[in-house]
Amino acid sequence: MPYEALRPEGAGVGTHIIGRNTTRRGRKVQEAVAAGHNLLLIGDAAATLVDVPDRTVQTVVTSPPYWSLRDYDTADQVGRNEPLPTFIKALVGIFAEVHRALADDGTLWVNIGDSYTSGNRGSRAPDKKNPARAMNVRPPTPEGLKDKDLVGVPWRFALAMQEVGWWLRSDIIWYKPNCQPESVRDRPTRSHEHIFLFSKSERYLYDIDSILGPNGRRLRDMWDINTVGFPGAHFATFPPELVRRCILIGSDKGDYVLDPFLGSGTTAAVAQANDRRFIGCELNPTYIHVVLERLNSE
Ligand SMILES: C[S@@+](CC[C@H](N)C(=O)[O-])C[C@H]1O[C@@H](n2cnc3c(N)ncnc32)[C@H](O)[C@@H]1O
Repeated sequence: MPYEALRPEGAGVGTHIIGRNTTRRGRKVQEAVAAGHNLLLIGDAAATLVDVPDRTVQTVVTSPPYWSLRDYDTADQVGRNEPLPTFIKALVGIFAEVHRALADDGTLWVNIGDSYTSGNRGSRAPDKKNPARAMNVRPPTPEGLKDKDLVGVPWRFALAMQEVGWWLRSDIIWYKPNCQPESVRDRPTRSHEHIFLFSKSERYLYDIDSILGPNGRRLRDMWDINTVGFPGAHFATFPPELVRRCILIGSDKGDYVLDPFLGSGTTAAVAQANDRRFIGCELNPTYIHVVLERLNSE
């Protein structure tokens, strides 16, 4: 189906869908941004972001694929089976393009989870609760690590981002009270993930009063938020509340919010609900249907 035919009526008006084979893609993206329209860019984030003009975006809320955890069934996907250093390098490369597209006082919120080594097993069977976790390939165990080691992916990523110039401003712990049970019996059940707050400059937009913690106190760096599934997505989706906090703190009404790994479109939907514009990149074109339905219905 041509992407134009997917354009929704009503709520989606003003949202342009730009496929990877669109002619004069760069020009179309620039015109859409100049007109203040929303954008859904289909293709690899590194390749599609190049068309977004410099300093367009005020804040970025995103969750890249976790290393060796999911198969998104698309060529060019990051995180499926490449060695760990290649994965980190690919993410840092994509975020270099984000850096260029970000306002000088802009921020980047990255949610990233950890993984255990595969012990050089070549595959992972589906678990009962989550058949999509099956993988028919696994990356090699990173050098220096052993079978059963926790890899420490989030911090390896955060330090690599610091090295190329991002300011690392916060390591927020997202605590999931309703976390998935695990069958392992020799360590605590995992119930948290990291959200790193990066900035492009030393000073940046941070609306401290937009989100307050319990009893009206300043927001702390431990966020208790239940996971929320989204129908039609076989992967972990953001809880809207998590995205809402980042967007309200990091942008003003009318600003552009970006998610280079859009998935089911939570960032776009929350941006829309809070009077922000959005730009989303997604490699797998089938997810764009999910995103459009969501934008229309919410
Ligand atoms: C963890 S999911 C994002 C879920 C999203 N936060 C939500 O709420 O639905 C990661 C997404 O990144 C996409 N992806 C993987 N590699 C990509 C790439 N190179 N460029 C753009 N998107 C990519 C996957 O198809 C998947 O939809």
